Amino acid sequence: MGCYPVFCRKKNSRSQVVQLDQDIPIAGNVKIYSSKELRKATGNFCPGSKLGQGSFGRVYLGKLNNGEKVAIKVLSSESRQGTKEFLNELSVISNITHHNLVKLHGCCIDGGQKMLVYNYVENNSLAQTLFGNSRSGIRFDWRTRVEICVGVADGLTYLHEEVRPPIVHRDIKASNILLDRNLRPKIADFGLAKFFPGNMTHISTRVAGTLGYLAPEYAIRGQLTKKADVYSFGVLLLEIVSGRCHTDPTLPLDEQFLLEKVWTLSESDDLESIIDGTMERDFDTEEARRLLKIGLLCTQDSPKIRPSMSMVAKMLKGECDVSEKIMRPSLITDVMDLKVRTVEPIQFSLSPSMSPALSSSLVSTLALAGSTVVESR
Ligand SMILES: Nc1ncnc2c1ncn2[C@@H]1O[C@H](COP(=O)(O)OP(=O)(O)O)[C@@H](O)[C@H]1O
Ligand SMILES: [Mg+2]
Repeated sequence: MGCYPVFCRKKNSRSQVVQLDQDIPIAGNVKIYSSKELRKATGNFCPGSKLGQGSFGRVYLGKLNNGEKVAIKVLSSESRQGTKEFLNELSVISNITHHNLVKLHGCCIDGGQKMLVYNYVENNSLAQTLFGNSRSGIRFDWRTRVEICVGVADGLTYLHEEVRPPIVHRDIKASNILLDRNLRPKIADFGLAKFFPGNMTHISTRVAGTLGYLAPEYAIRGQLTKKADVYSFGVLLLEIVSGRCHTDPTLPLDEQFLLEKVWTLSESDDLESIIDGTMERDFDTEEARRLLKIGLLCTQDSPKIRPSMSMVAKMLKGECDVSEKIMRPSLITDVMDLKVRTVEPIQFSLSPSMSPALSSSLVSTLALAGSTVVESR
């Protein structure tokens, strides 16, 4: 992987070019845009062109001079957090291409302003359609759901097993999966992604990710492996089949956590009852049961028992059997001493003395907000 310094033009200066204070391993084909061009493309970032808001920036729809539509992610100028995520996202995504990953066109660095320019993905995020707050009117049929699961699994297999060094995404969740015009999935948001050196069993890192999708060993001990992504993918799989968010604090406590609910139903051999009712009877019950079991396998307590992403992809495609030896999955709500910090300056911690009911309702409030969280240091 070559390391090219990034140059960008200083505002109001035709001839002067400045070098970014840090060498970013960025591929030669990543274009550097001027902020003027991106301002023009988005009608000066008018609210009407806003596509979405993530934890580290706002995303706008833009039309470039050549007529091409792009999605422009603007990182907040004040936040140091944003700068780190920006440089990280640039270094990870600029060197890789796969049909299930969002494609980076280029970037813009202009004074404090930092932007990433992506291929525009027409049908926004999976979260928007799946959790029913979409204005698009899209309804997922069963085949589409299976294909979305397979596509995300293929994208993750590429990151974990085909790219060198492998990449752990760390924030797989419904709002970070985009859908193109044919509802094919593209994994987005590489702000937290990490290169994973091949000779390591795990890397110790501060915890970052989204509650509800965080693998317990990673949330508790900060031990990151590819299996943390497998865990998040398992939660996502259950969400896609059930049409339910991983956490729903409006339900009674024993129903709130999707993972727990699916496990209980699996124990009573009643997995069918969690399948999304909006599909009416238009789904393959056996296949849906298989997908739910794969979701449970991906969320097993021991990372070693969780399958690799290539195995998951094979199971999803029916190319290999799904093990019947499934144990109780592990849930972050069991964790009483998890310290997290939202990207806003709100400090939040779960005290060890807090009652289980209270602490899990706090976890569910944060989890429902769906924000990416970073452990405080
Ligand atoms: N390429 C894109 N095409 C269309 N919409 C996008 C694109 N990238 C992001 N979005 C929208 O913006 C939201 C936030 O983008 P994301 O990259 O996840 O930012 P953050 O790092 O701030 O979470 C997404 O959930 C989606 O709704
Ligand atoms: Mg995001």
